[in-house]
Amino acid sequence: MSAIGTAAEGAIFPDMGGDDTTGTGTGHDGMNVSDLRRSATGFVLDREDLNENPIVQFEGWFRHACASVPMDPNAMSFATVDSDGRPSIRTVLLKYFDAKGFVFFTNYESKKAIDIDGNANVALLFFWSDAARQVKIRGKAERISAAETLKYFISRPRGSQIGAWVSAQSSVISSRALLETKFQEVKQKFKKKEVPLPSFWGGYRVVPQQIEFWQGRRNRMHDRFQYSRQDDGTWEIERLAP
Ligand SMILES: Cc1cc2nc3c(=O)[nH]c(=O)nc-3n(C[C@H](O)[C@H](O)[C@H](O)COP(=O)(O)O)c2cc1C
Repeated sequence: MSAIGTAAEGAIFPDMGGDDTTGTGTGHDGMNVSDLRRSATGFVLDREDLNENPIVQFEGWFRHACASVPMDPNAMSFATVDSDGRPSIRTVLLKYFDAKGFVFFTNYESKKAIDIDGNANVALLFFWSDAARQVKIRGKAERISAAETLKYFISRPRGSQIGAWVSAQSSVISSRALLETKFQEVKQKFKKKEVPLPSFWGGYRVVPQQIEFWQGRRNRMHDRFQYSRQDDGTWEIERLAP
């Protein structure tokens, strides 16, 4: 097993021996990272501090993450289940949220889209490590309208608009060169024109049924509050054991 090194500030990190991003690591036997520790943040979550509306509660935490997380505070794990009950998970970027739900954009012919076609039950997960916070959202995914997608699409840089046309997301391809060639072809095709919205690309809204806020605390005595949507649209709030 690879050695575990101790860094400054009391945090312990695996000793990677420098930048090792090329898959040339020597850990044939794996790594033991059981000594990794997180330090306490001092944040607590009390019942009386919770907003009755989980979207407002989420906004507070999200604003904090935006101010403190250096990269992609809006990155969320997005879990789907296929029609055989097998789960898949991947990262997507939250683009906006409101009382109706949480919206991200993707390819409507991708693996995740096929999963949703067969089973709209999905889950989202945010983890903001610096604040020791996790938000878990369960709900149903629904496609947003083409008009709503278009509004977002036209706000994107031209390169991303072209990129949406280029990739048959989740399909097997033989080489990177193929992608690069297709990018140039699409770029040429729409030269001096507006890039139209591909019919196979758009947004999903995850309409939440349950939202859990998890605040890490010392000694594994974490705070967890689960909001569950009631038939009348209000939210029941329950504390869960950590
Ligand atoms: C930080 C990050 C952000 C991503 N954001 C998106 C996104 O917003 N939409 C998207 O379709 N894929 C996004 N991806 C790529 C997905 O994780 C995934 O590879 C892709 O959507 C295909 O997933 P699928 O084959 O399960 O459908 C992102 C990946 C990372 C690491």
